[in-house]
Amino acid sequence: MREILFKPTISLLKIMILIKLGGSIITNKEKPLTANKPAIRRLASHLRRIKEPLVVVHGGGSYGHYWSVKYDIHTKPSRYNIKGVSVVKNSMVQLNRIILESFLESNLRPYCLPPSDFMLSDKPIVKKVKEITKIAITGLTPISYGDVMWFGKNKFYILSGDKIMGILSKILKPRLAIFVTNVDGIYSNMKTKRLIRDITVEKPTVSEVTTDVTGGMSRKIREAANISKNGTDVFFVNGNFPKRIANAISGKNFEGTIFRG
Ligand code: IPE
Repeated sequence: MREILFKPTISLLKIMILIKLGGSIITNKEKPLTANKPAIRRLASHLRRIKEPLVVVHGGGSYGHYWSVKYDIHTKPSRYNIKGVSVVKNSMVQLNRIILESFLESNLRPYCLPPSDFMLSDKPIVKKVKEITKIAITGLTPISYGDVMWFGKNKFYILSGDKIMGILSKILKPRLAIFVTNVDGIYSNMKTKRLIRDITVEKPTVSEVTTDVTGGMSRKIREAANISKNGTDVFFVNGNFPKRIANAISGKNFEGTIFRG
């Protein structure tokens, strides 16, 4: 049971853990509109054992990404096809629902948190964002997700889950931020699969790695670098081995990449 495990009096300390479940691990990216239900279930059962307040963000994978590519909708605000906007948004609600149900079945207490609850156009509503840790302290697990958002002037844009990680970290200053993907961490060389274990953003390692990774990964790296610059350690772990999430949190036997804050 995770209810009321956390005393609100410690809410000013860094007590919350922010986790992004990447589309690559919660969906089958090769197959449109397919959730990876066994992986979601496994992740949920490991997350349930975490004894600190948790906030989860998930990506779009073969749901939101699939449709946003089909309808040519991007992160840049523009007057996109409105059917496309509708389809992308619906697909994210579908994926979110699968995750909410799986979390509930695993005895977590998921609390659906669409990004429109705490964003106005492309800016966070700071007062709303600050409520999120308070909700997590009750034992509920707020779950947000990448989505298509109203920008204003008939324009929409894609707000990625990675970007949400950056926004929430800046305001909430979690104890740790963890990106869960389907690879072991950040590779310095994709061919040899040489893993970088430790990245300190002041040092030039980051620009070295960004040249070697896909568009998706370089965006994650950029967000991770910014989060760690603000003083939060950022971990990249392989969600196919969910125990690694617990190891990242306990600081023991960690396998993956760390961006030191
Ligand atoms: C994508 O979010 C959201 C939409 C396309 C609607 P992310 O960009 O965070 O998704 P993944 O984790 O890379 O799949």
